Amino acid sequence: MNYIGSKYSILSYIDEVIEDFVKPKNTVTLCDIFAGTGVVSKYFKEKGYNIIANDIEYFSYVTLKGLIENSDELKFEKLTKKHIDPFICLNGLNGKKGFIYRNYSLGGTNKKEFKRQYFSDENARKIDAIRIKIEKWKKKKLITELEYYYLIACLIEASDKVANTASVYEAFLKDLKKSALKPIILTPLELVFKNKKYKIYNEDSKDLIRKIKGDILYLDPPYNNRKYDTNYHILETIALYDNPKIKGKTGLRIEDTKKSNYCIKDKASLELEDLIKNAKFKYILLSYNDEGIIPIKKIEEIMKKYGKYKRYEKRHKRYKSDNSREYKKNYTIEYIHCLEKE
Ligand SMILES: C[S@@+](CC[C@H](N)C(=O)[O-])C[C@H]1O[C@@H](n2cnc3c(N)ncnc32)[C@H](O)[C@@H]1O
Repeated sequence: MNYIGSKYSILSYIDEVIEDFVKPKNTVTLCDIFAGTGVVSKYFKEKGYNIIANDIEYFSYVTLKGLIENSDELKFEKLTKKHIDPFICLNGLNGKKGFIYRNYSLGGTNKKEFKRQYFSDENARKIDAIRIKIEKWKKKKLITELEYYYLIACLIEASDKVANTASVYEAFLKDLKKSALKPIILTPLELVFKNKKYKIYNEDSKDLIRKIKGDILYLDPPYNNRKYDTNYHILETIALYDNPKIKGKTGLRIEDTKKSNYCIKDKASLELEDLIKNAKFKYILLSYNDEGIIPIKKIEEIMKKYGKYKRYEKRHKRYKSDNSREYKKNYTIEYIHCLEKE
């Protein structure tokens, strides 16, 4: 998924920094407390770490549950006994006029005040049919909890591939783009199996940090005022499938007020300091680029209060969520601020 702030392309850089900065090599519980797509958690799961992964967004939590928590192959035993292959079955369903169709496709909204085209009519109906079926299987106990999250994670990924947006869900495109015209196909996401400990949370980092401990705390908070709940609101609705009240041209969820203090200039550094102060982790690494709302000197000042500080930096090709926008430079500097807590 093309996720704002995804660390997919700098995983090896994060790894190199950990190799260089963290002394004991055989510990290790790593907490990815702003886990987003889970790529960092997955990378270090593959390397054999115990993982604690968390995100405030539910669609991210679902993905983390589906991809990180399990340490064994998903067998879908109860479905298989009934000769049902979940992917063949879900991909073969007839579409349904559910919440996604009624609110985010042109066919479903053309008689309404706000016409929206986030998905083609066919794909929107299919997303509904698949999501409803997964929920039915769960209710009938035909799938386990992890199978349930895994299937929804696959649906989120597949839906995002056919979404008619420039990248995020702040707006949809006027005409259906090429990829949005393709039929949605639910594909199994790649899983990694290691026999370590995995714990997944869906909490505000400020609350969670007071309850957990480990060796390495990896921080990748939002670094500007672009909010994840509005940018990914439709993925949140597919994950929750809770018939939310929505508003306006883009159909935003009304009751969501998961405002992250990391997106607010006056609050971000206080929030960060609170996290660092309360962290029961020896090593803390913070990814933050040179365009973040907390100045680099401020981060250094905060970290130095709590132990030994070191900063790594690397030029990185810019993430463009909007190709029509002009950016001042086509790269950012990705800092990793490191602290060995005393
Ligand atoms: C820069 S992204 C992380 C990207 C992730 N490392 C990846 O590679 O996919 C920041 C994440 O922090 C989450 N977030 C924002 N505020 C949070 C908070 N207070 N507690 C927990 N998660 C939060 C957002 O939902 C978002 O997924």
